Amino acid sequence: MTQPLVSILMGSKSDLDVMQVARDSLTDLGVAHEVRVLSAHRTPDALFAYLADAESRGVEVFIAGAGGAAHLPGVVAAKTTRPVLGVPIPTGHLNGLDALLAIVQMPKGIPVATFAVGKAGAGNAALFAVAVLAASRPELAGKLAAWRKAQADKLLKESVIE
Ligand code: RP5
Repeated sequence: MTQPLVSILMGSKSDLDVMQVARDSLTDLGVAHEVRVLSAHRTPDALFAYLADAESRGVEVFIAGAGGAAHLPGVVAAKTTRPVLGVPIPTGHLNGLDALLAIVQMPKGIPVATFAVGKAGAGNAALFAVAVLAASRPELAGKLAAWRKAQADKLLKESVIE
């Protein structure tokens, strides 16, 4: 089995609709990853057990999505020095603003890179994870450049509105 380079974590299965975008992006770019539902407040012991050996199994970057009080990314960051990319999930009455502020306002010392609320954030977190990995993997840098070119070509093809 291929070792996962990226770990995609989320606090609840209800986050999967958003986090699936990160999953699909990594699959498209051929980056090995694994996905787990683990909650900082509902299943803290299982989360810590998972984090205890994730790096030794190959994980270099963590993407963590959470809604509401959204402490999952910060708790993951507390247990690893690998990059942690936080994705605020739009849930409940505040539609993701709560999660955005919770994730982005990490006190100094334990950083979490925070992305846009929802699917745009999940997709960009995956692309950012690939960019981090590509710094030491030229073949991945090539794939990322090709992905961007395809995106630009598509937009340019549709740029003239008759
Ligand atoms: C957070 O609580 C999860 O990340 C999720 O976004 C939110 C709501 O979870 P459920 O009540 O849908 O399981 O921990």
